[in-house]
Amino acid sequence: MAFSLPDLPYAKGALAPHMSEETLDFHYGKHHKTYVDKANGLVEGTDFANASLEEVIMNSEGGLFNNVAQIWNHTFFWNSLTPNGGAPSATLQGELEKAFGSVDAFKEKFTNTAINTFGSGWAWLVKTADGGLDVVSTSNAGTPMTSGQSALLTCDVWEHAYYIDYRNARPKYLEAFWALVNWDFVEQNLNA
Ligand SMILES: [Fe+2]
Repeated sequence: MAFSLPDLPYAKGALAPHMSEETLDFHYGKHHKTYVDKANGLVEGTDFANASLEEVIMNSEGGLFNNVAQIWNHTFFWNSLTPNGGAPSATLQGELEKAFGSVDAFKEKFTNTAINTFGSGWAWLVKTADGGLDVVSTSNAGTPMTSGQSALLTCDVWEHAYYIDYRNARPKYLEAFWALVNWDFVEQNLNA
C-alpha cells in the first residue's frame, strides 16, 4: 500500500493572512509531499510495503520512522487548522478548565511549550494513557502515539512552518496559530 498525500481540508490560500498560500505551497506541496515520496521509496520491496501508516510508525526507526511519522504529523497538523477558527465548545472548554485551570492557561502552556521546543519539533495537546490531558513537545519527527498518547491538537514548530510568513519569529507564528485552531477537530479527537 503506497502512502499518499491527503487532500488539504481547505484551499491553499484559505488560511491567509495568518498562514499564506506560499507557505502552504512549500509546507504542504513540497515538505509534506517529500515525506510521502521518501517513505514510499523506503518501504518498497520490504515487509512494510503493505502495512498501514500507523503500523510502520510503531515498528520502524531511523529514516523510515522519520518520514512516516512526518506524514502522519503533517496530516494531523492540517486537520488541526481551519479558516473558521473560533473558540472551544462549552464541553471542550470544561475539559480544558479541568486539566489546566482555564482555556487561557492551556493556551499559555501550549504556546510556551511550542516556543521552547529546541530546534525542530512539534507541540501537542494529548490525552495520556490514564485519560488525562497534557501538553507535550516532540523533537524532529517525534509523535505521541509511540508514547501511548492520543494526539488532540498539534502545532508544527519546524522553521519550514513559519519562515516565509514570520521569518525567525516563532512567537508571532504561535499568535497566528491560535486564530486558526480547529476546536471541533480537537473535540472529535477527545471523544474518539
Ligand atoms: Fe512541517
